[in-house]
Amino acid sequence: MTREEPQVFITEEAIRRRVGELGRRISKDYAQVDILHLVGVLRGSFIFLADLSRALTIPGSVDFLAVASYGTTVAPKGPVRLITDLRTDIAGKHVLIVEDIVDTGDTLAYLMALLALRGPASLKCCALLSKPASRQTEVRIDYLGFEIPDVWVVGYGLDDRERHRALPYIGVRSPSGS
Ligand code: IMP
Ligand code: MG
Repeated sequence: MTREEPQVFITEEAIRRRVGELGRRISKDYAQVDILHLVGVLRGSFIFLADLSRALTIPGSVDFLAVASYGTTVAPKGPVRLITDLRTDIAGKHVLIVEDIVDTGDTLAYLMALLALRGPASLKCCALLSKPASRQTEVRIDYLGFEIPDVWVVGYGLDDRERHRALPYIGVRSPSGS
């Protein structure tokens, strides 16, 4: 079996620059807030969250939740379910959901609705990537890294059946499917 590396789609340098910009914008927007509560969506967002949290110049806290869609990785995906909940109560807190990628929009719509019920002081979302062409549920992304076409991307936390998560850049699966 050959171990072909995915083709570079967004370079490490471009990601670093964009994450820095997002960090500055978010820090400015939340400058008056005591603590910004970052909620990472496992597992895809773990690297983005690590970098974004360090790009912030305001006090922050970090928590995680995990979701899965029913069915397999093969489309069509089913509804979303919560696998692991937050450890902290978000009532009265300023919450920023940190997502790797918004594809159909189902996951983000589900999470926004779920967390809104818990009475946060504010609730927004930051996603590194968005594929507007595959949207099925309309969602607002308050802070977005990059819009991309409807291709399967890997790296920087994103996987292809658990492969390539640790790539430092965002790549596209090679045409052979490896
Ligand atoms: P949505 O509910 O369809 O918006 O799906 C969002 C989730 O699907 C993301 O958080 C990812 O875990 C996964 N996903 C969607 N597109 C990709 C991709 O191109 N590469 C890796 N994961 C993806
Ligand atoms: Mg995700």
